[in-house]
Amino acid sequence: MSEELKTKAGIAALDFVKPGMKLGIGTGSTAEAFIRVLAPKVAEGLDIVGVPTSERTRALCEELGVPLTTLDATPRLDLTIDGADEIDTALNLIKGGGGALLREKIVAAASREMIVIADKSKLVATLGAYPLPIEVNIFGLAATSAMIDQVAVAAALSGPVALRKDDARKPFVTDGGHYILDASFGRIPDPEALAVALNCVPGVVEHGLFTGLASRAIVAGDGAIEILKPNV
Ligand code: A5P
Repeated sequence: MSEELKTKAGIAALDFVKPGMKLGIGTGSTAEAFIRVLAPKVAEGLDIVGVPTSERTRALCEELGVPLTTLDATPRLDLTIDGADEIDTALNLIKGGGGALLREKIVAAASREMIVIADKSKLVATLGAYPLPIEVNIFGLAATSAMIDQVAVAAALSGPVALRKDDARKPFVTDGGHYILDASFGRIPDPEALAVALNCVPGVVEHGLFTGLASRAIVAGDGAIEILKPNV
C-alpha cells in the first residue's frame, strides 16, 4: 500500500479518537502512519494516552511525543487502532506480519473497540492467502510444529509451516522472546474453529487469527475512504 493510502486511513481513524481516550496503538507501517498523524494532534492539545503494541511502536511514540502508559496501569482501553495483513467480510483478521501479534491481541482484547486501518488490497473473501503467523514457545519447537500440523490435518488444511527468520537469517524473536511459525495453509474457511484448535496446542503462545475483535475497518482506496462493519 502506498504511504499516501496509509496516511489517508490514519487520518480517517483520527475521527474516532476523542479527548480523554485511552488508546491501544498498533504496529506495522499503517499503524505507523496513524501515529504520525496522531502526534501533531497531541502536540496541539489532544488529551489521550496510549498503550503501544510493540517496542517498535513504543519507540516511535516516544520519539514523536505521544504519551504512553501500560496495561498494568490502565487495564481497560477505549479504542485500539491497528493494521492487518488480511481482513474478511466478517472483519476477522490475519495479523502478525510484523511479529507483534501477541501484544496486539492482548491490547485489542483489553479495548472496548478495535478499529482496523488498511488499504483495499487487505480485503479478502476468505482468510489464508497470507501465511498465518503463530507465535510459539522456543521450548519444544519441533513438537509444537508437529502438533500444529495435526491441527491443520483435522481442519482439512495443509501447507508448509516455516520458522520465521530475521534479516540475518537467524530465527526471528518476538518482543515476548518467542519464535514465529508462518503457516501457509491457504484458504481458512472457518477461522473461529482454527483459532480455538490452535489455542489448544500447549506450545502455541498466540496466533494471528483475530476473530470477533474488530468492529470497524477503515479502508483506503483510490476513491473515498470506506468504513466497513462486520457482515456476519
Ligand atoms: C504487526 O504484527 C502486524 O499485525 C501488522 O498490523 C500487520 O502486519 C499490518 O502491517 P502493515 O500495516 O505494515 O501492512
